[in-house]
Amino acid sequence: MTKKVKQGKKPQPKGRGGESVRILIPRARLQRRITEMAREIRKDFPDEPLHLVGVLKGAVFFLTDIGKQIPGDVSFDFIAVASYGLGTHSSGQVRLTRDLDSSIEGKTVIVVEDILDTGMTLQYLLRVFEQRKPKRIRVAVLLDKPERRIAAVHADYVGFTIPNEFVVGFGLDYAERYRNMPDVGVLSLGSQGAKASKT
Ligand code: IMP
Ligand code: MG
Repeated sequence: MTKKVKQGKKPQPKGRGGESVRILIPRARLQRRITEMAREIRKDFPDEPLHLVGVLKGAVFFLTDIGKQIPGDVSFDFIAVASYGLGTHSSGQVRLTRDLDSSIEGKTVIVVEDILDTGMTLQYLLRVFEQRKPKRIRVAVLLDKPERRIAAVHADYVGFTIPNEFVVGFGLDYAERYRNMPDVGVLSLGSQGAKASKT
């Protein structure tokens, strides 16, 4: 199950050069949903050690919050990819910038990602992971923007389905800023006109 999110509340003045953020998913709602997702995951694999692989840096807060709420045997690892550059425009290319610390062979791996957008990042990562012979792989994403999908990838656990807007907060950045916002919000770039968008 996933939750649909509609347009949020009034813009909150924040950031530089006329940038503003309108809250889309308040922190309490994020936490409630993350708790539900943790339960779903443990229910699907009641007796298995779960190996959570977080995609740096965007998934850090999501992984730490969901990780604390999955009972039983849980381990963590992190991987980092670059696809976005500094702004909101994707290069379309995905590159591994930090590999996992340990082998995933024979493990039940849950890939933990902040947002599923075009799907290029996850498609790349899933290819890399499949080659390493895990027992199985599942994908958990906090946010899903299905309108933007290019690659045919599927997430097993989706926190919120959101409209096609550029969002920041709760780990998600614009040029490395806004990750520390506890809520998820839609970023507007202000006087230059355009809303931030990924093309
Ligand atoms: P994809 O490869 O297009 O699916 O994009 C995945 C990555 O792009 C995510 O892990 C994010 O880091 C970044 N991204 C996609 N959409 C947004 C957004 O709305 N705000 C911030 N980062 C985003
Ligand atoms: Mg990311």
